[in-house]
Amino acid sequence: MKRRMVLVLGALLGVLLAGVMSTPASAELKPVNRLMVAQLRDVTGIVQSIVTYDFDALVAISTDMEKRQRMVMQNPQLAAKTKEFYGQVADHAGHIAKFAKEKNKDEVVKHFALLFETCHKCHSEVRDKPQN
Ligand code: HEC
Repeated sequence: MKRRMVLVLGALLGVLLAGVMSTPASAELKPVNRLMVAQLRDVTGIVQSIVTYDFDALVAISTDMEKRQRMVMQNPQLAAKTKEFYGQVADHAGHIAKFAKEKNKDEVVKHFALLFETCHKCHSEVRDKPQN
């Protein structure tokens, strides 16, 4: 009876381990996913900095974000539409940095809303379009 339980537990552990090992580590994610993870982190940072009026953090985060987007846009394999959306993200991030330097919170919030809308638009028009 005891041995059977050990066997059952062993099998369960095996299934669990196999599950964990088949989940890709973040280092193995495709480049686009890592970019999205970075974008999500930046968007979260921007929201936190807006609610605490941390203009220095806003300048730092949005400046980095703009630079990254412009760098990614240089990839010659990007589809025109994708490149255009990345350009919009870069522009809005640049505006956030500019207005954060001026401590103009209304304009910061406005451009954050536009930036976030761009994430959503690309997800619905590019990411979630059925590929054929
Ligand atoms: C140019 C188009 C485009 C823009 C702009 C864009 N995304 Fe994405 N996003 C994608 C695509 C495509 C995927 C799916 C990636 C995959 O499955 O390889 C994705 C996936 C994601 C994911 C899910 C994780 C993943 O890799 O599947 C998150 C989170 C995400 N995006 C966040 C954002 C945020 C935040 C923004 C705005 C700052 C943004 N994205 C802007 C195209 C875009």
